Amino acid sequence: MAPQDPPSTTGSGYRVNALTKDSLKAAQRVGMLSDQIVINGGKPLKGTIEVRGAKNLVTKAMVAALLGETPSVLRGVPDISDVQVVRGLLEVYGVGVTSPTPGELHFDTSNVEKAHFAEIDAHAGASRIPILFCGPLLHRLGEARIPDLGGCRIGDRPIDFHLDALRAFGAVVDKSYEGIYITAPDGLKGTEIELPYPSVGATEQVILTAVRAKGTTELRNAAIEPEIMDLIAILQKMGAIISLEANRVILIEGVDRLEGYSHDALFDRNEVASWASAALATHGDIVVKGARQAEMMTFLNVYRKVGGKFDIQDDGIRFWHPGGELKPVTVETDVHPGFMTDWQQPLIVALTQAQGTSIVHETVYENRFGFTEALGVMGADIVVHTNGLPDHPRRVARRDFEQAAVITGPTPLHGAELYVPDLRGGFSHLIAALTAEGQSTISNMGIISRGYEHIIEKLAALGADFVYEG
Ligand code: EPZ
Repeated sequence: MAPQDPPSTTGSGYRVNALTKDSLKAAQRVGMLSDQIVINGGKPLKGTIEVRGAKNLVTKAMVAALLGETPSVLRGVPDISDVQVVRGLLEVYGVGVTSPTPGELHFDTSNVEKAHFAEIDAHAGASRIPILFCGPLLHRLGEARIPDLGGCRIGDRPIDFHLDALRAFGAVVDKSYEGIYITAPDGLKGTEIELPYPSVGATEQVILTAVRAKGTTELRNAAIEPEIMDLIAILQKMGAIISLEANRVILIEGVDRLEGYSHDALFDRNEVASWASAALATHGDIVVKGARQAEMMTFLNVYRKVGGKFDIQDDGIRFWHPGGELKPVTVETDVHPGFMTDWQQPLIVALTQAQGTSIVHETVYENRFGFTEALGVMGADIVVHTNGLPDHPRRVARRDFEQAAVITGPTPLHGAELYVPDLRGGFSHLIAALTAEGQSTISNMGIISRGYEHIIEKLAALGADFVYEG
């Protein structure tokens, strides 16, 4: 079931201070706000935590196991609910999934079988990953069923690029009230695809389909995020032939058979950027074990420009606030190697504490500033320009639907009653509550565990002052 709006919502899905005790109790009675945390802010976060595999790689690597005729092993698997959703879906298709040790998953694909819509549906709605099962299922079963997709409500999030790509391989796409039913009566053939935008998901769709298609596929204007590169590394281990060429061209030469893989997942860059921003906003000092510089270059540049300090260590990166004032910056989100759209929410909380005016141009999603309303109620000065700021000098190409947020600081933040709207917006609320003077209550924390593992243990390890009513 997609995340529900709390009762009596406004514009971006919640009216913070209007959530009276009664409406909170009403929401709790219907189990909407399944879990809640109470935070006493104003205390710098200090200590060491560890991040494991990236949500946006691990979930795709689990799907890739379906393509292997022999067992696969994935290590560095985070304990997050998105992993449980994909595990549930794999089991519906007859894949044996075991976890002999925490953080490790073994996949047995010797008995892949068809599943009914109802079974698939039972596992749907919470994630966008089911769309990526198409290619592997068409190769293994000759058909694929796509239920309603979930994921964060940060824009329309259409799947037209995915369906157009599958049709280009020769698949037949039927839409019915039950969902989307895809077949490949004449098999899947290598083809040429030019993506209208370097979509991560659509690039993964093409790669997961092309690796066993007859002939060669040329994918142009592809996404080249580190998570995509790690997925390509996994598929190469399985026996695939995938070449990355200049100018976002990926060439995939289809093969008849793929074996299982054994792989250590790429670390979660989004989680690292989140904790780094928390260190800055709370005047803290956090060592993030598992973080690596190579995949964080763009983030680290912006972090330094704001005035944050970092130290690259053998097994991680230390992030801290050096004291003194933070500086305002202008950031344009973009596809890799640009500034990730998933990094802007946590960073914006730190920018509310900078001396001056910062601007964030959001170019990847059309509606990803809803979380700023809560920050405004806590005392932040953030103006969202829903049509962007067309006259501002830019390095990233303007997109028709982009928006911009203008953050003026420093503004003291005070506690509030908050409701988690989506994954990254939710983490920004956590940082704001930890930064704010006074007490905050954050509900709907469950959404955060979709992408951040052991969040409560990590807050405790960093000395946060809170009560968790999970
Ligand atoms: C992936 O989403 C990530 N999710 C997102 O992270 C991330 O924000 C995004 O890539 C961009 O980096 C996962 O990997 C599970 P896209 P995805 O296809 O694949 C448009 C997080 O917080 N588009 O690259 O869904 C789309 O609407 C999440 O961890 C179409 O128009 O993103 C968007 O504007 C949030 N038609 C843009 O492309 C399509 O068929 C980029 O989307 C597909 C996409």
